[in-house]
Amino acid sequence: MANVVVVGAQWGDEGKGKIVDWLSERADVIARFQGGHNAGHTLVIDGTTYKLHALPSGVVRADKLSVIGNGVVLDPWHLVKEIETIRGQGVKITPENLMIAENTPLILPFHGELDRAREGQTTVARIGTTGRGIGPAYEDKVGRRAIRVADLADDATLEARIDRALVHHNALRSGLGMEPIDRTALLAELREIAPQILRYAAPVWRVLAEKRRAGKRILFEGAQGALLDIDFGTYPFVTSSNVLAGQAATGVGIGPGAIDFVLGIVKAYTTRVGEGPFPTELHDDDGQRLGERGHEFGTTTGRQRRCGWFDAVLVRQTCTTSGVSGIALTKLDVLDGFEELKICVGYELDGQRLDYLPTAADQQARVTPIYETMQGWSESTAGARSWAELPAEAIKYVRRIEELIDCPVALLSTSPAREDTILVTDPFAD
Ligand code: GDP
Ligand code: IMO
Ligand code: MG
Repeated sequence: MANVVVVGAQWGDEGKGKIVDWLSERADVIARFQGGHNAGHTLVIDGTTYKLHALPSGVVRADKLSVIGNGVVLDPWHLVKEIETIRGQGVKITPENLMIAENTPLILPFHGELDRAREGQTTVARIGTTGRGIGPAYEDKVGRRAIRVADLADDATLEARIDRALVHHNALRSGLGMEPIDRTALLAELREIAPQILRYAAPVWRVLAEKRRAGKRILFEGAQGALLDIDFGTYPFVTSSNVLAGQAATGVGIGPGAIDFVLGIVKAYTTRVGEGPFPTELHDDDGQRLGERGHEFGTTTGRQRRCGWFDAVLVRQTCTTSGVSGIALTKLDVLDGFEELKICVGYELDGQRLDYLPTAADQQARVTPIYETMQGWSESTAGARSWAELPAEAIKYVRRIEELIDCPVALLSTSPAREDTILVTDPFAD
């Protein structure tokens, strides 16, 4: 049975949530494998909007198993609140349909404090993080001082783990002029939240191995986008995890051979939240129009997203680094009514033409886009559910993107709603 990985192919917010929700009808298990509640995935089902941050988008279908894998960093207090919010919208969430890997590292209150304190400093360049403690939590995981879900089950281990973390963090906080961590209060808070998390804890790698033996289909839900990847993104203006498709395997504990199809989610133009280079960014009326028509405000922080033309150079590059088999092109409808559309087909740097984004930060900041201009369309594509409903110019735009990124379109999305999706190739087909 085919297993599919969904990943963002730009700077996040490409519409992963909508596409995962649409595809999850065909899957048995939906698994998050990296990131945390920095993600914001929006689903619109029968007129109701669901905003998911830490929970996999499959959770709205109670007959599917949703999994939070070990590649994720998890804020237990946030998760409990998010479960309550989504339950309040009529969704059933129980240990039968939600599992959390026992080896998942936790985001603790001091991670968020550190994240925000660093971002507030004027001496270092800001990243524009979501302020949710993602970076500091991953640092502790790699630094071997994280507290993991399984540690919540044994009080002696929990105390020892806290002491290990506090030695490091109190030294750091003192240097930053912050108060030391209140050990007693932290321990009490963790003891209180522990049972609410432990009821979902499971050996996820074993559960997934059993599901695979039983011929079940797994849908892996990525967060962020390839240009925010810790290795291949626009470093240091990135998130603190690997977000490329390869991470799906280690982020839950399966072999890389289990991945049959990588679906890259691609917005029909480009957006970015936070700081960092963005070659096709627009500061004019076109940029403002994209933002207004696309409602480009962050799902997690409400910040205005920066907008620009489609960058084929970047997407060709991220389709390579994630091994994308086909893309889902989203928000085509946002381009309705533009007289002309531009696509970036190369960069110029110091008089040379480049067909990729260089790694050096100063060069990333200095590349200027080379554009190709395409004719727009005046008809509406909003809500289109078949190719036949699309104007000829819209089809030309999509076909040109396929050519330039060297990757076929498997799905097209024409509105936030679940059904407004055009299937070209079924990623789950064997
Ligand atoms: P994610 O983080 O990749 O899941 O994307 P977000 O949910 O943060 O942002 C995508 C936004 O675009 C959400 O508000 C979606 O409801 C919306 N959206 C998704 N697909 C489409 C589409 O095809 N057309 C339009 N107009 N909106 C879309
Ligand atoms: P989804 O899954 C867009 C960005 C932040 C910031 C940088 C680092 O909804 O696509 P972090 O808090 O992760 O340390 O912030 O990464 N960022 C996102 N941008 N979509 C996301 O998730 C993002 N998650 C993080 O804005 O620039
Ligand atoms: Mg988002």
